[in-house]
Amino acid sequence: MSSNPIYRREFLEKLGKVSLGAVMAGGLPIQGVSAREQQEGRKWEPVSERKVRVGIVGYGVCRFGAAFGFQDHPNVDIVAVSDLIPERRQGLMKACRCDKSYESLEVLVKDPGIEAVFVATDAPNHVRHCIEVLNHGKHVMTAVPAVFGSIEQAEQLLETVQRTGLKYMMAETSCFRADCYGMRKIYEAGGFGRLVYSEGEYYHYHSTPIDSFKGWRIGMPPLWYPTHSTAYYVGVTSKRFTSVSCIGFNAGFQAYRPGANKYDNRFTDEVALFKTSEGGSSRMLMCKGIQSLIVERGRVFGERGWMDGTEYHGIAKKLPDITRPPLPPGMPAGGHGGSHGLLANEFINSILENREPLVNVYEALAMTVPGIVAHQSALRDGETLKIPQYVRPKA
Ligand SMILES: NC(=O)c1ccc[n+]([C@@H]2O[C@H](COP(=O)([O-])OP(=O)(O)OC[C@H]3O[C@@H](n4cnc5c(N)ncnc54)[C@H](O)[C@@H]3O)[C@@H](O)[C@H]2O)c1
Repeated sequence: MSSNPIYRREFLEKLGKVSLGAVMAGGLPIQGVSAREQQEGRKWEPVSERKVRVGIVGYGVCRFGAAFGFQDHPNVDIVAVSDLIPERRQGLMKACRCDKSYESLEVLVKDPGIEAVFVATDAPNHVRHCIEVLNHGKHVMTAVPAVFGSIEQAEQLLETVQRTGLKYMMAETSCFRADCYGMRKIYEAGGFGRLVYSEGEYYHYHSTPIDSFKGWRIGMPPLWYPTHSTAYYVGVTSKRFTSVSCIGFNAGFQAYRPGANKYDNRFTDEVALFKTSEGGSSRMLMCKGIQSLIVERGRVFGERGWMDGTEYHGIAKKLPDITRPPLPPGMPAGGHGGSHGLLANEFINSILENREPLVNVYEALAMTVPGIVAHQSALRDGETLKIPQYVRPKA
């Protein structure tokens, strides 16, 4: 594509805007430079001139299909979008400035002009949809969680990613929050040593259920949605949880009474204690029942230092730069701590550079499956259960 003069000119024009935009006029921002870029004084560098041809599926309650800014990335051409519901499909077309749509993901994946798909559909269908995309020879990024309450689904997904050799990424937002990003950089540089202990928390109080496609959120076991929390260990260390004991709590909400939900689940809150492959422990939770509390956060405590937020406390003399990478010009940082744009950028760059994305299938399953086992433990009153391991085979 870089040899195509039209694409090349368009692309260089966009870049031209950036270099001009890097100059400030009377303190006013110039079009093309994001607020974050100005703040950090760093300029985004493209890794390629090529545009990846992307399809986007899902414009539900969270409007997630358009929320990651693919439509604003200079290396992306949105070929087509889809949602089963016609009004949502229209909304997604408008939000992505795309004039082509399909009635379903199943039809969209047949378009030979599309090489990568963002799956922002309902969680219970993520695995089925991702497998459909991969089996049609396309890379895939999925909203969390990677799998929904099923270890069998995890095996099927892993087999498909390995067989096709295509890129798979889970868009776990905590992984690009400023604190978690910084923790990962410092961990990699040895600033913590082994983690003695870590904590990840996803509190989302709601006494009445949030409706979603076919009501999948109503009565959902809390730790089937564990990744905002587990990212604060797996997303920092790339190490694993090996076993778990979990306690469930019932806050008395209607949707969690016996027979009131399709999961036969009574827990509004689940708190799990994991053993880690470093020999430490990790407390991860998802709670819906704590009055008014809505936040995603975590902390890490290591042999050489600890972090709660973006400030390091420890004995490391030299620390790496923990500033998050700059975004392409004009691309919004997006929600969940400004993680959305960086996740989309990471997925696109992994395709352009032909490398593994940050949250590949092994990391995605290592963040998701432990929550499924934790729920099983909660059902057995905290019995300690072993966790299946997802480790990338050595090349
Ligand atoms: N912080 C985060 O990472 C975060 C936050 C919110 C939501 N999410 C995730 O984002 C995803 C979307 O969330 P939501 O609340 O918008 O979901 P939703 O259930 O409200 O909407 C899902 C949409 O997918 C569409 N869809 C389903 N099957 C389809 C198919 N075969 N073809 C085309 N369209 C199809 C439905 O019509 C619906 O509009 C969920 O998986 C959720 O877990 C993640």
